[in-house]
Amino acid sequence: MRPKIICHMVASIDGRLLPPRWTPPAKGVDRGIVSRIYEEVADSFDADGWIIGRKSMEDFATGEAHDAEQVVALPRTSFIGDRRGRSVAVAVDPGGKLHYTASAVDGQHFITVLSERVSDGYLAELRHKGVSYTFAGEDGSDLEHAMRALGEDFGIRLILLEGGGLINGSFLKAGLIDEMSLLVYPGVDGLASVPSIFEYHGGENERPAAGKSLRHVSTETLEGGMVWIRYAFEASPEAS
Ligand SMILES: NC(=O)c1ccc[n+]([C@@H]2O[C@H](COP(=O)([O-])OP(=O)(O)OC[C@H]3O[C@@H](n4cnc5c(N)ncnc54)[C@H](OP(=O)(O)O)[C@@H]3O)[C@@H](O)[C@H]2O)c1
Repeated sequence: MRPKIICHMVASIDGRLLPPRWTPPAKGVDRGIVSRIYEEVADSFDADGWIIGRKSMEDFATGEAHDAEQVVALPRTSFIGDRRGRSVAVAVDPGGKLHYTASAVDGQHFITVLSERVSDGYLAELRHKGVSYTFAGEDGSDLEHAMRALGEDFGIRLILLEGGGLINGSFLKAGLIDEMSLLVYPGVDGLASVPSIFEYHGGENERPAAGKSLRHVSTETLEGGMVWIRYAFEASPEAS
């Protein structure tokens, strides 16, 4: 069984995702409010970890490629590295572009979701670093399969999907988001084409959220005028 997936994001009032671009907090409001409240709310879920896209993980995976020699063929099945019971930091990186310096960041163990096409040398590099991995099918697009593996091979029950917009868009299209936890920061970006919460790249007439409706769960106003809104995704009445 796959874990429950809550998409947890902080956005400007125009739904944009890049905090350094937003208008600053109003006078008297803590300038560090965005990341502090984001993390506090994330912690309140008591989740087993978080998932981000390859680009967002670049901030945490800062290692160099390691030239593995005499590599034997390795099976394309989940590998559990040096986890030690820790919660998890999952990257979706079908091409195997990320290079890790250790098996964890801030006490959270790395799991990387790959395509079956990555080289045996790359898998050997991950094993050497103690990083866990699993697969999203031959080309890395089978997110449903990867999420089932997180549940069944790693015992993950609840996980936060934390962006960016590209990976959120793919989870939306795959129907894998159970709940939305959105923090609206009282600031504006304002520029066209800056990434937003969901950035699925599809055809002109595609509707990545087709078949779904959002049911309001709760709204709270937090410090500094941040607003925390929760919605549950459910089948739309038209889909049933
Ligand atoms: N405000 C927030 O809450 C928040 C949260 C997270 C991130 N961010 C910001 O968002 C920015 C990065 O976001 P992003 O949307 O450009 O990138 P992203 O979603 O972090 O990563 C996108 C990459 O993930 C890989 N990927 C793997 N499977 C995929 C799939 N099925 N669909 C789509 N992508 C897939 C692709 O890597 P390949 O190119 O290797 O194929 C793709 O380029 C950063 O600047 C970060 O700071 C903001």
